[in-house]
Amino acid sequence: MKKALVTSLLLLPFVILTEPGFSNSNNDIIAAKVSTLLEKMTLDEKIGQMVQVSSAEEQIPSEIKENIRKGQIGSILNQVNVETTNELQRLAVEESRLGIPLIMARDVIHGFRTIFPIPLAQAATWNPAIVKKGARVAAVEAASVGIRWTFAPMIDISRDPRWGRIAESFGEDPYLSSILGAAMVEGFQGDDLSKPDAIAACAKHFAGYGAAEGGRDYNSTFLSENLLRNVYLPPFKAAADAGAATFMSSFNDNDGIPATGSKFLLRTILRDEWGFEGFVVSDWSSITEMVNHGFCADEREAAFKAANAGVNMEMVSSSYREHLKDWVESGELPIAVIDEAVKHVLRVKFELGLFESPYTDASKFPALVNEAHLKTAKEAAVQSIVMLKNDNILPLSKDVGKVAVIGSLANDKVEQLGTWIFDGRPEDTRTALSAIQELIGKSKVNFTVGTENSRSKDKSGFSAAIEAVKNSDVVLLFLGEEAILSGEAHSRADISLPGVQKELLHEISKVKKPIVLVLMAGRPVTFADLVEQVDAILYAWHPGTMGGPAIADILFGLESPSGKLPVTFPKHVGQIPLYYSHNNTGRPADANSWVSMDSVAVHARQFSDGSNSNYMDIGSMPLFPFGFGLSYTDFVYENLKLSSNKISMNEILEVSADVTNTGKIAAAEIVQLYTRDIAADITRPIKELKGFQRISLKPGEKQAVVFKLKADDLAFYNSRMEFVTEPGLFHVWIAKNSQEGLMAEFEIIE
Ligand code: GLC
Repeated sequence: MKKALVTSLLLLPFVILTEPGFSNSNNDIIAAKVSTLLEKMTLDEKIGQMVQVSSAEEQIPSEIKENIRKGQIGSILNQVNVETTNELQRLAVEESRLGIPLIMARDVIHGFRTIFPIPLAQAATWNPAIVKKGARVAAVEAASVGIRWTFAPMIDISRDPRWGRIAESFGEDPYLSSILGAAMVEGFQGDDLSKPDAIAACAKHFAGYGAAEGGRDYNSTFLSENLLRNVYLPPFKAAADAGAATFMSSFNDNDGIPATGSKFLLRTILRDEWGFEGFVVSDWSSITEMVNHGFCADEREAAFKAANAGVNMEMVSSSYREHLKDWVESGELPIAVIDEAVKHVLRVKFELGLFESPYTDASKFPALVNEAHLKTAKEAAVQSIVMLKNDNILPLSKDVGKVAVIGSLANDKVEQLGTWIFDGRPEDTRTALSAIQELIGKSKVNFTVGTENSRSKDKSGFSAAIEAVKNSDVVLLFLGEEAILSGEAHSRADISLPGVQKELLHEISKVKKPIVLVLMAGRPVTFADLVEQVDAILYAWHPGTMGGPAIADILFGLESPSGKLPVTFPKHVGQIPLYYSHNNTGRPADANSWVSMDSVAVHARQFSDGSNSNYMDIGSMPLFPFGFGLSYTDFVYENLKLSSNKISMNEILEVSADVTNTGKIAAAEIVQLYTRDIAADITRPIKELKGFQRISLKPGEKQAVVFKLKADDLAFYNSRMEFVTEPGLFHVWIAKNSQEGLMAEFEIIE
């Protein structure tokens, strides 16, 4: 057995060396304030801090007023009327015995009023700076109505596009999700959590929720500790290191234990190994749902198990309010468990400055949906769009002649915004149709929906669509999914285009005009059978308020597409789970040749030719791989160089390649770095993303792109759960996507 460099279990992958959310001196001062306050609190008041209630009514229900006055509510979610928020806060601060302020919460997943592209689309930017800027805009807008805590970033690794919540995630890769999740935390929280426009982030859903069996939301997960530590936990560690003030326990049971009742997750990992000091909130009624799971006999037991596991605040369900006092007074639940939970909650409230400034002065904030916010949202949308095909048709010239814009999604102010927008308003949406008309003139645009919406089976609009195409020189066909077909509780077993959209394309293609397909969806949909029928494909996801102008600017060349896929696009739903960072197996699939079903003779006897990990009908390759995305120019990668072909455990390996823009258009390119550990204590993936750089090159310009790799960057949890980097042979790629690239070998020596 090779010796290995065993680093501390505390050193998890993707350590983002950012000062945690609490500075030391501030830490001590706050700790003292928390302790002083805690000593004054009754048991009822302590449990009150562990209770979150949802209340969206502008007129505060009397029961809520009463409970606030009694100090029996610690947080309100879903109130976004600033007058009401201030009144709720006044009740807590001025009419309760100890005046402990409430923490007001809201889901601000990809924007508050200015809606940004869905997180999966933001992941396609591979740009932490724009993700951070978007979160900052969201924080300023949400804080202006009194919201000081949001339930984002959602950093569940998502490798199953049947799962509707893939839309909210940053995709399939731990490294990319770690970088972008940390950026979102920093954007929400700013450089000082006590500033009035800072809002506490919440790393969710902890943990493993995205591995729901069958891609069916809320379903069980069966992640080994190894897979948890090497794939699903790193983004949460990165969020904790970025100073996330809160975590949310997830709905799923993993390997038989609901996350909301898991001491392993909420204490061993989060507190003991990571030293997390914020607080943990349950996800909605996930505490009482442990009865449904069959993990608790009743809600009374659920309260006990969740509190003991380390859930510090109960969202919406009432098991803490109803049962914790009994557990403590019976002596079965140590008061220390309550005190610890309340300390974490009070600490965040002090960090937010709520005791000093509990009220919101809306006049001190910029207007919602202002030009600066819209500009940032457009920038994010432009960078999120991925060009998947271009047979020399894009970008279009403004003198292109008549343009047929077909499809309801080209002009749907609601669907463009995507899932999980509570406070976005359709009237703010700038659609692609309006942007295209603005760019080239209304008279040149023939618009018709073709079908009323993405699910419609009514073909009566086909004839108008065909007529529009006949009277046009080029077709911009907008197909995809409505926003409600992704997001929470909206998993799909068949992820092809719903309704009769494929039939619409087929009919239009008979007119033989050039077709640009713009797909808008909250997940990778399957469309392998459409690729050959069109000349170009843009994947625009659900791009938010400014998605229309972003799409138009790319279509007409004011911007060049730079997005890269943050998730693998399967040819067929039957290939799922399908992701780039898979193990090699003992009989690796041969990408280019397999025994196809059609090649096997009838009555063929059992044979083992080509027995590798493949599908006889579809093969093992994706339609488009992780990291893939085209540009209006070409980038040539050459001259891969390593500073050495051997490094010791404490040396740095420099890996570089020259990237040249050989085309005629200035454009951005996301250069990716992948590695592979050839032989290790456990089987390791055939590739892992370890770095990326966004570069911009003018036509003809060449840049040497340099990555620095340390042994720690190659560490993983081995079979003994040691976080190690083993000596041995590695492969390294500098690439434009996960399926190709310049490759070299190097060795790590003792
Ligand atoms: C939900 C979601 C969670 C969200 C919470 C509050 O059910 O799972 O992501 O933050 O409720 O709305």
